[in-house]
Amino acid sequence: MSEPANIDWENLGFRYMKTDFRYISKWKDGDWDEGRLVEDNQICISEASSVFHYGQGCFEGLKAYRTQSGTIQLFRVDQNAKRMQESCRRGIIPPVPVGKFIDACLRVVKANKTYVPPYGTGGTLYLRPFVIGVGDLIGVSPAPEYIFSVFCTPVGAYFKGGLTPVNFTVSGYDRAAPFGTGAAKMGGNYAASLMPHELAKRRGFADCVYLDPATHTKIEEVGAANFFGITRDGRFVTPCSPSILPSVTRKSLLEVARGYLGIAAEERDVFIDRLDELSEAGACGTAAVITPIGGIEYRGRLHVFFSETEVGPVTRKLYDTLTGIQFGDIEAPEGWIFKVE
Ligand code: PLP
Ligand code: COI
Repeated sequence: MSEPANIDWENLGFRYMKTDFRYISKWKDGDWDEGRLVEDNQICISEASSVFHYGQGCFEGLKAYRTQSGTIQLFRVDQNAKRMQESCRRGIIPPVPVGKFIDACLRVVKANKTYVPPYGTGGTLYLRPFVIGVGDLIGVSPAPEYIFSVFCTPVGAYFKGGLTPVNFTVSGYDRAAPFGTGAAKMGGNYAASLMPHELAKRRGFADCVYLDPATHTKIEEVGAANFFGITRDGRFVTPCSPSILPSVTRKSLLEVARGYLGIAAEERDVFIDRLDELSEAGACGTAAVITPIGGIEYRGRLHVFFSETEVGPVTRKLYDTLTGIQFGDIEAPEGWIFKVE
């Protein structure tokens, strides 16, 4: 294993860096093969692979954390494994068994452990499991073969980082349809988001807020993250909809709010014309962690929540508790932490 040299752990950003090993397993004739670690980061597949033309593929994102004592741990990898199975079912892809998914993630982290950023730098090792339809196919139908792979790359902040608030604008575009693939982590949802994201960036926003595709009245997602708000009477609220990706972070925050902070937490509609009800707001996800939302622009007006420069007190507590659990400083609820070594 190579010792990565000259990595500026404190300023990683969210960029791809090739690491030493990735896991790869193939599905053919009804079965996944054993799977193995390989060094080559190139995949050679048929030009007629369904993932290229028909978007038959799905992915996951999770992180490995270095604790203060130097050990490495994964956060709720079982939840990602289960969500990928749901994404697979939506895409008529043979689901990757949960045990195989977890084993692949553990093996990839162990094999690349020198790339797990040191504790205290804010960096983590991001894991990207994915499944793609491959093989010779021209009609619109499920692929004859599949590849499941997991690679990893050290990352820092996805948005500005730490607890710096950022602003978002409401998009007139949809990332998913009411009964489409929004709840599945399929590539097409992200292809649909590229243009709205680009338009928002050009206007100086971090990303855009998507409203519910049926009525365009309720908040659904914040770029590639879920939305949460803190009501003026101190409750944690987060939207619930069949076209939202069911975020592992959001699910965890519902439990953190109730169990660690003693705050009432609920999934309910958040109407875009009633943002005044919220004293704080944030984006949450594996990449985004918790990013405070300074303001949301809607119909030409920027609605500022707590502040455009300071994080609100409840968002700070949620962040400290969640990241404390992830980095091993705060005891986790049973089953949330998977020790790598
Ligand atoms: N929403 C979208 C569209 C995402 O891509 C992600 C990232 O995975 C999330 C929400 C957050 O989900 P999680 O907390 O499981 O990372
Ligand atoms: C994640 O948070 O893991 C995501 O998948 C977001 C991403 C597409 C960068």
